[in-house]
Amino acid sequence: MKKNPNLEILFHKAQIQKRINKMGCSISKNFNGEIPILVCVLNGSFIFFADLVRSLSIDCEIDFLKVSSYQGRKTTGRIILEKDISLNVYGRHIIIVEDIIDSGKTVNFLLERFKKKNCLSISIVTMLKKSNKFNFPLINEYIGFEVKQEFVVGYGLDYNQRFRNLEAIYILN
Ligand code: IMP
Ligand code: MG
Repeated sequence: MKKNPNLEILFHKAQIQKRINKMGCSISKNFNGEIPILVCVLNGSFIFFADLVRSLSIDCEIDFLKVSSYQGRKTTGRIILEKDISLNVYGRHIIIVEDIIDSGKTVNFLLERFKKKNCLSISIVTMLKKSNKFNFPLINEYIGFEVKQEFVVGYGLDYNQRFRNLEAIYILN
């Protein structure tokens, strides 16, 4: 891809891979002997999800859901479930895989949905977490990297559907 002057590198490919391997190790350790269901939150998580599941040393099942709330750089605050999962999650360990948590509204919306389904446990894995005073407190959380209140793209993350295919994570200026 042509070099874009508005993109400032934040995390290189190698840094991301190293961090994911560590996260994969701790998830594998914590779910040793279990077969959790990992739920990919589309679209942003698709690349992180593919790398994360391949870093696990335990058996797992996978499923996908799709939510939307963002337009450009801003959240509309209204979360719409565009596609639901297909697996039955009753009595299962659920691991929700997000690309980035900002206000936490999306993840909270998903948590409330899964809580009604009598899962055995619900955990959250996110590649990035923005420092945000409005964050909801979360339990069972695995975080790749903390970032500031800046708009980031690449490695699955988009700005108006662009930049998802970049291998590294960039700040969009
Ligand atoms: P929240 O509901 O405010 O936590 O926002 C979460 C969702 O907004 C994420 O899953 C992303 O899809 C999107 N999002 C938030 N911040 C960014 C960003 O900096 N770049 C790209 N997408 C973002
Ligand atoms: Mg997302």
